[in-house]
Amino acid sequence: MQSSWLCFFIITFLTVTHGQFEGKDVRSIASGTSFGMCAGYCQQSINVTSDPLQVVASKRPNFDQESYPPVQRPFPIPTSQWEQLVSSLNLKTFLALDNTIGCPDCADGGAEWIQVDWLDGTKHVTFDYGRTVDGIEDLIKKLRQMREEYVSQL
Ligand SMILES: *[C@@H]1O[C@H](CO)[C@@H](O)[C@H](O)[C@H]1NC(C)=O
Repeated sequence: MQSSWLCFFIITFLTVTHGQFEGKDVRSIASGTSFGMCAGYCQQSINVTSDPLQVVASKRPNFDQESYPPVQRPFPIPTSQWEQLVSSLNLKTFLALDNTIGCPDCADGGAEWIQVDWLDGTKHVTFDYGRTVDGIEDLIKKLRQMREEYVSQL
């Protein structure tokens, strides 16, 4: 009786501590930019998901403007693009980051953000536009390339 409980706790512990860092548990990786003091399409983002395997690109203004209606469109992506993105994400490093790094958009310099949703959690990190963040350089680079690739097609 006692040992089966012990076993139960050990398995639960391993599942909780180990499971949430598995790349396969990542459901979506999203990233975007925003500029506060700005007219036109001041917010751009992509949201990459594995199910369905796609990237949703979007751009929107900060406030209603007739000539800048919000635009959002899904694009199918190859499995390899998802796998490359996930493999550039070190979830443990990402989870250890502060939610806000630096002073995003403080001096109208813009903000950049990354949000990762996995099986049982979500984390959103915002940093100064154009900067890089220690430990997730590769992820930032890949997301910038994908934003460029897909938002430009909107
Ligand atoms: C990206 O899409 C997933 C699945 O629809 C959703 O759970 C997640 O919240 C989205 N991320 C953002 C930043 O909107």
